[in-house]
Amino acid sequence: MMDRTDRHCRYVHRLFAPHALLYTEMIVATALVRGDAARLLAHDDEERPVALQLGGCDPQELETAARLGAAAGFAEINLNVGCPSDRVRRGSFGACLMLRPELVAECVRRMRQATEVPITVKCRIGVDERDDYDFFADFVGRVAEAGIDALIVHARAAILGGLTPAQNREIPPLKHEYVHRLKREHPTLPVVLNGGLCAVSEVVGHLARGLDGVMLGRAAYYRPALLAELERTLVDPDWSGPQPRQIIEHLVPYARAKLGQGARLHAITRHLHGLLAGREGARAWRRFLSDIASRPDAPPAALLSALPLLEREPAA
Ligand SMILES: Cc1cc2nc3c(=O)[nH]c(=O)nc-3n(C[C@H](O)[C@H](O)[C@H](O)COP(=O)(O)O)c2cc1C
Repeated sequence: MMDRTDRHCRYVHRLFAPHALLYTEMIVATALVRGDAARLLAHDDEERPVALQLGGCDPQELETAARLGAAAGFAEINLNVGCPSDRVRRGSFGACLMLRPELVAECVRRMRQATEVPITVKCRIGVDERDDYDFFADFVGRVAEAGIDALIVHARAAILGGLTPAQNREIPPLKHEYVHRLKREHPTLPVVLNGGLCAVSEVVGHLARGLDGVMLGRAAYYRPALLAELERTLVDPDWSGPQPRQIIEHLVPYARAKLGQGARLHAITRHLHGLLAGREGARAWRRFLSDIASRPDAPPAALLSALPLLEREPAA
């Protein structure tokens, strides 16, 4: 999630869910090809498996970017065809590409030529007034022919020009049924549902109906313990997930290494606001994080002083 997730966030989330596939925020292919690819692609082995999400509409550039991503060790290369922001639309990529399925198919073909790593697409169910099922199915049919390994669907339309990105994640209605119908019509295409999922029971229900996966955005960010609950339910019944103390114990040496490379402690701790979500002490914990944010020179050991805040019992 742009301006939200990054490598530090993925490092934290991996502690909660050893088997989840984590995604980068959208990285613009032009920036990768013409900019500082090493910095943009940098990640730790501990984060893996990680999918690299690309934004772009130039087949040649996407081919090069996919090659760079595969060489950097990403487990999947994903093309974003769902971002509605004005800036992205002005670049003629993101959600507006749903109106150009042949171009998306060409991009996918070129990305496939670049690498053996799976190539996937993340889209919406439609754009503006084109939010009927036939439009969605036609788009997917043409793109699937180019040979995608999976399709991830944020199950609401994107309204271009008129709604902010935040409104575009709330106002257009969710239509999960489109995604189920699509899966029934494309039984061999792996289909992943995204949009509005925040409870384990919902996820279990969608998977039981035949979908191949789910993607969680905001709920996982604001309450990472949900990732541990999903790991326990879907993968390992014995997985209890890390206690807040264990997260801090992992993060102190990690932060030492990253601060040695020039990062600020706040760049890491900003992803911990949801650590105590729903638990006693959450407010004091957030105050502690604000204090770290206001101290540019806060050392990693400062985290240890929060341990007493984290030791309280979960709220009843
Ligand atoms: C701050 C923010 C940034 C986002 N950036 C991206 C992005 O870079 N790529 C992407 O595919 N989706 C992005 N999204 C959308 C989410 O991935 C997801 O599709 C959307 O929030 C709906 O899922 P959710 O209800 O589980 O959050 C972003 C969402 C938020 C809140």
